[in-house]
Amino acid sequence: MMKEKRTGFATRIGAIAATVGSAVGLGNIWRFPYQAGENGGGAYILVYLICIVLLGIPIMMSEFIIGRSTHKSMKGAVEQLTPGSPFKYFAYVGVLGALLICGYYSVVCGWVVEYLWSSADGTLLGHTPDQYGKIFETFVGTPQRCVLWTLLFLVLNFLVLSRGIQKGVERMANIMMPLLFVLLIVFCINSLLLPNSGKGMSFLFNIDFDELGWEGVVDAMGQAFMSLSLGVTCLITYSSYFKDENSLMKDAVTISALDTLVAILAGIVIFPAVFSFGLEPGSGPKLIFEILPTIFQQMPGGTIWAVLFFVLLFFASITSTISLSEIPITFMIDEYKISRGKAIIITAVLMTAVAVVSALSFSTLSDVELFDMNIFDFLDYVGPNFFMLLGGLVTAVYVGWILKKEVIHDQLTNGGTRRSRFVQPFIIFCLRYIAPIAIVLIFLFYTGILDAD
Ligand code: PHE
Repeated sequence: MMKEKRTGFATRIGAIAATVGSAVGLGNIWRFPYQAGENGGGAYILVYLICIVLLGIPIMMSEFIIGRSTHKSMKGAVEQLTPGSPFKYFAYVGVLGALLICGYYSVVCGWVVEYLWSSADGTLLGHTPDQYGKIFETFVGTPQRCVLWTLLFLVLNFLVLSRGIQKGVERMANIMMPLLFVLLIVFCINSLLLPNSGKGMSFLFNIDFDELGWEGVVDAMGQAFMSLSLGVTCLITYSSYFKDENSLMKDAVTISALDTLVAILAGIVIFPAVFSFGLEPGSGPKLIFEILPTIFQQMPGGTIWAVLFFVLLFFASITSTISLSEIPITFMIDEYKISRGKAIIITAVLMTAVAVVSALSFSTLSDVELFDMNIFDFLDYVGPNFFMLLGGLVTAVYVGWILKKEVIHDQLTNGGTRRSRFVQPFIIFCLRYIAPIAIVLIFLFYTGILDAD
């Protein structure tokens, strides 16, 4: 068998499944509900959906076009497609973004491991709804525990990467993802049957723009990019393994639709329960960790549901951190010609440093504030809302304006064998005008440089 030289994370056949694995993760199940809750629900979700269609899918396609046309990751791809273009330096932003995002993201993965552990040993359930919020705060406020689980998670993540068993993990994830999906549907039905569930549904789907504001619009846009794994060159690397025969449009639409569905399902699990148990929808990052135990508790066989759910969530998360870790690893191998083993060690050290600091944000380092946020919240803010949006903007401009039309046409029609009469003009229009104008304008409004009134 030929050994995969550049990375070893996915077979070409599994590349699409691996991309779904990257997209579906804590972004959908943890971040989307808490952000929707903080931003008043319906209007945020509407903006989120618009961003998925007009910005997310076109930018995902442009990452696919760059990756599949060259079978290289960002820097090499840009060097090949447009020799001498300064756009290649954007690869550094992607690497830095991935390190910071994976750093704080693995802290939440650590929380998932803690909750998996405590559900398995029977200590999680058996409390009142408002006690769960306190239990979470006590846990994150205990530095050793929080750091330990985060480190354990990172060890597993890098063990998978260094053993070259991503393929195995991804194959497992191929079974786990559909299961997670089924489980979410079961939980949705359960939540909809709770008393007062209608209030949660109207929170989710009633559109009231007074609740949103420009900050909420930026949040929705950043969340769309976070959820689809855009703007940090991850999908360029993954799509460099795609088959030349696949339809990129179909792949991008399928991946985005599945990802969005998971997020919406998570919302339907969480909000009816939030209102039914009289909890606060805007309680921030702790939202799912206080509401899920409450939900499991009132289900017959609650402990089993809890364990099953956290196991599946663990798999959804590790396929995302694997894809995030691949960004610096692949970059270092290509750029500095070092061995994969060395690249993994350097990436592991850097990510662990960010992760430990973020894990301590709720305890030892809780006094350290950046722009009025603790370190964890700051990274959770700048990762999606700055790095990913900036990355998305650069990708849109590059493919929309700089890249030769023939390359785009060739990729969208698979060398002229497929028709793309409407898709290509739509994608190019979104990349040239809608994405850059929307991202820049929304930022100008948000920062107050422009005033909507
Ligand atoms: N999309 C992943 C999620 O929703 C997070 C991620 C972002 C993964 C960027 C890879 C790259 O959980």
